[in-house]
Amino acid sequence: MKLLSVATSPIDGQKPGTSGLRKKTRVFMGRHYLENYVQAIFNAIGGVQGKSLVIGGDGRYFNDRAIQVILRMAAAGGAARAIVGQGGILSTPAASHLIRKRHSDGGLILSASHNPGGPDEDFGLKYNTPNGGPAPEHVTDRIYAESQGLSTYQIIETTDIDLDTLGQSALAGMIVEVVDPVADYAAMMQQLFDFEAIRALFAGGFRMRFDAMHAVTGPYAKAILEDALGAPQGTVVNAVPLPDFGGGHPDPNPIWAKDLMNLMMGPDAPDFGAASDGDGDRNMIVGRGCYVTPSDSLALLAAQAHLAPAYAKGLKGVARSMPTSAAVDRVAVSLGIPAYETPTGWKFFGNLLDAGHATICGEESAGTGSDHVREKDGLWAVLLWLNILAASGKSVDELMRDHWARYGRNYYSRHDYEGIAKAAADAVIENLRMALPTLVGRTVAGLTVSSADEFGYEDPVDGSVSTGQGLRIGFDGGQRVVFRLSGTGTDGATIRIYLEALRTDPDHLALDPADVLKPVAQAAGELSRLAALTGRTSPDVIT
Ligand code: G1P
Ligand code: ZN
Repeated sequence: MKLLSVATSPIDGQKPGTSGLRKKTRVFMGRHYLENYVQAIFNAIGGVQGKSLVIGGDGRYFNDRAIQVILRMAAAGGAARAIVGQGGILSTPAASHLIRKRHSDGGLILSASHNPGGPDEDFGLKYNTPNGGPAPEHVTDRIYAESQGLSTYQIIETTDIDLDTLGQSALAGMIVEVVDPVADYAAMMQQLFDFEAIRALFAGGFRMRFDAMHAVTGPYAKAILEDALGAPQGTVVNAVPLPDFGGGHPDPNPIWAKDLMNLMMGPDAPDFGAASDGDGDRNMIVGRGCYVTPSDSLALLAAQAHLAPAYAKGLKGVARSMPTSAAVDRVAVSLGIPAYETPTGWKFFGNLLDAGHATICGEESAGTGSDHVREKDGLWAVLLWLNILAASGKSVDELMRDHWARYGRNYYSRHDYEGIAKAAADAVIENLRMALPTLVGRTVAGLTVSSADEFGYEDPVDGSVSTGQGLRIGFDGGQRVVFRLSGTGTDGATIRIYLEALRTDPDHLALDPADVLKPVAQAAGELSRLAALTGRTSPDVIT
C-alpha cells in the first residue's frame, strides 16, 4: 500500500446545494473530480485524522467505484474507522441513523436522490454532520471554498476492498467495518411503531403495494413489511436496487410511479399504496382511489401521530417548508403547538429538531420525517400511515375526508418547467421580484392580490439568515402562488410554481383540484409572463 499525494487543480466551481453536490455521472467520473470534492470535504471539516465516518449510497451507477475511492482517501487522511453498508448500500435515513447511533464524525452519502442513474444520468455526494443531518450552509460554504483552492489530494494505492462480507478489515491504519444496511434501521422502526397492531392488520387481510422503484428501499421494505410485519410476499415490487433504477426516474409521484397510481385508481386496488425514491427519503402515499398530496399527508400525520407509540405523548411542534401547503398549520393551532415555516431543503429542519422545537417536519416534495433521524424518511412515513390505519380502523379515504371536514382542505399542485435556459429562468424571477412592491391590490385573472413578498428566514436557533427563498403572492379568498428556482436540477434551470387554494365550506371538499386551482394557475401565468419569457405554455411535470 502506497500513500500518494496527487497534484491537482480546483474543480469547476459550484456550491454544494441543499442536497450536496449533484452532477452528471460522467463529470464525477472525470479525472480527479470525485477525489477533489472528497478532499475539499475532508479539508472543510478539519481533516479526518482519528475520525470515524459512515459511508454508503443508493446503489446507483458509480456508487461502488466511488466508495472505493472515498475509503482509500479516508485511510490516507488517517481516519480511524469507516462504517460502510454492505455492498455500499445505505438509504439516506439509515445513514443518518447510523451516524447518530455510532456517534460518528459524520458521513458521506452517495446519491442524486430521485434523479435517474447511469453513466449518462446523475450522481451526487453529500456530507452529513455528526447530528446525522445535511451540512448547514456554513459548512457547505467551507467545502466550496476548499474546492476552489485545492492543489493536492491524498489517496492510498491498493486493491479493491471487499464490501460484500460483513465484518471488519484494516485498510492502512483504518478499520473498515461492513454492516448490514437494514438491521439497525429496522430495529429503530420497531421502537417507534406498534408492530403488533400493524401485523394484526395484515393478518386480517389488509393488502398493500409498496413500489421500491428499483431503488434503495427494496431491501428495507422487504425486511420490514414482508418479513417483520407479515405482509404477503410480493407486497414490495421492484425491490432489487439497480444501478440505473431500471431506466426509470425513482421519484415517487403520480407521474413517475404511474404503475402504482394506475393500480390504486383501478378496480383491483389494494387498501394502501406507497412508494419511495432513489435514496429512500421521499414517499408517496395513496389509498384506494385516493391520492394523498404530500402536504396533506404531513397534516394528517401530525394530527394522528399520537396513535403511534413514539408520538403518544404529543408533538413539540411541526415544521414545513414555505412552499408546502398550510394544511399542517391549522393542525398545529388545534393541537396548541408551534408551526415553523422554513426555506426549502431538509437542512433547515435540523436545528429545530436538535433544539426540540419540532417533532414532525415535511415538504411538499414528498419528504416527511421526524426527530428520530435528521433526514426525511420515506419508510418511516409509510409505517406511520400503517400504524394510523391499524389503530383507527379507517381507510385512507375516510381518514382524509374526516381530516378535511375538520380542518378544511388546501387544494394544492406544483407545476415544474424543466430544462429552461438559465437566462430566461432568471428573467422570469427577476421581473417578478421587481414587480412585487406594485402587486398588492391589483386584480389578475379575476383574483385580487392581497400580499406579495420574497421569503427570507432567520433561524430561530442559531440566528443565521437565508434570503431569496422564493417569491410568494397571496390573493383574497385564500389562494396563493409561490415561484422558485430549483436548486437540485442538473440540466439548465427548473422553475417551480406552487399553487394553493383553501376551501373550508363542507360542500367544497371533494372537488377536482385542477378545477379549483385554475384561476390561481392563470394568475400565475399572467403575473410571471412565463410563456412570453420562456416559450413554454405548459409544465413538464405536474404533481
Ligand atoms: C427539491 C425539493 C425540495 C427538496 C430537495 C431535496 O429541491 O423541491 O423540497 O428538499 O429537492 O430532495 P429543489 O429542486 O426544489 O431545489
Ligand atoms: Zn431522496
